[in-house]
Amino acid sequence: MGGARNHKNMKILVTGGLGFIGSHTVVELQNEGFDVVIIDNLSNSTESVLDGIVAITGKKPVFENLDLRDKPKVQDFFSRHSDVSGVIHFAASKAVGESVENPLLYYENNINTLVYLLQELSEKQEAQFIFSSSCTVYGQAEKMPITEDASIQPAMSPYGNTKQIGEEIIQDTAKVTNINAILLRYFNPIGSHPSAEIGELPIGVPQNLVPFITQTGIGLREKLSVFGDDYPTSDGTCVRDYIHVVDLAKAHVVALQRLIGKGNTEKVETFNVGTGTGSTVLEVINAFEKVSGKKLPYQIVGRREGDVISAYANTDKANNVLGWKAQSTLEDGLASAWKWEQRVRS
Ligand code: WQD
Repeated sequence: MGGARNHKNMKILVTGGLGFIGSHTVVELQNEGFDVVIIDNLSNSTESVLDGIVAITGKKPVFENLDLRDKPKVQDFFSRHSDVSGVIHFAASKAVGESVENPLLYYENNINTLVYLLQELSEKQEAQFIFSSSCTVYGQAEKMPITEDASIQPAMSPYGNTKQIGEEIIQDTAKVTNINAILLRYFNPIGSHPSAEIGELPIGVPQNLVPFITQTGIGLREKLSVFGDDYPTSDGTCVRDYIHVVDLAKAHVVALQRLIGKGNTEKVETFNVGTGTGSTVLEVINAFEKVSGKKLPYQIVGRREGDVISAYANTDKANNVLGWKAQSTLEDGLASAWKWEQRVRS
């Protein structure tokens, strides 16, 4: 099914490439010999992440501080980089709670920008597009582990809705253009590069579990609040599929190579990207205590609005069709997150 053609020095655009998952993907792209151009508006990242990337790979990606909501700027970018035909699109707002408070920010930032990128790629003879989607699109799936053909539930937040709408826009566009796309539905990304040169940099109070745990472990937060222990699960706390961010980054490179090598069997393919293992919040706490040697102070509080009970991936399609499999365990992810937290606070 079409081997990956030699793509040495092929130029790839990574939007949001200074963000958490984006920066880890830039590293893996460079490791595979791609030239990388980053667009990032620094709304949820800092330019110093470039130094971390260089420290790991020795190669500095081109970086343009550009807001994708500015259509003329997007058009100008593609006229200056006419050799870019592969795009990995991370740039988006991603805080579920914030999206409920400020839906129009999410519809403008997550939808308009996608449209402008696809309009540029639609002009090309061929284009590869990798889209950062999310298991959020499944809502509370009926059956675990979740397969890609599980029904898409009505979105529980404007953020989740932008991911569902984004997938539909890509499907409709690929049908009538030369764009081939892969939708990657992430489960819960955690951890950092083993070098601790790059990692997650949540702004303000972390919304997600693992950065809140590591900040509690380092003493930045007094204690972790566990949002409910009365769910119908093994220990009453919610179940998620925590995937190491480096494994997730590698999935993007494999997906891109699949499209470059014309290995895809449909214009748009969809893959769940997880480990296939579900862990409860209390299991994550125990695993953190094991890898850090720290006792984690926590309290059980009420449920958080919008949380699903359980979400973990069936990874058969990613493993057998995409040819990618997560290599790291929950403990590996937590150990790398802890190493990063200590490095950032040192
Ligand atoms: C995990 C579990 C919480 C914080 C979200 C987005 C998803 C993706 C990943 C972008 C849940 C519990 C959390 C805390 C807690 N983001 N928790 N105390 O909600 O599964 O997914 O982030 O793509 O789209 O929805 O991740 O880390 O917020 O929560 O008890 O302080 O940890 O209730 O059960 P979530 P999370």
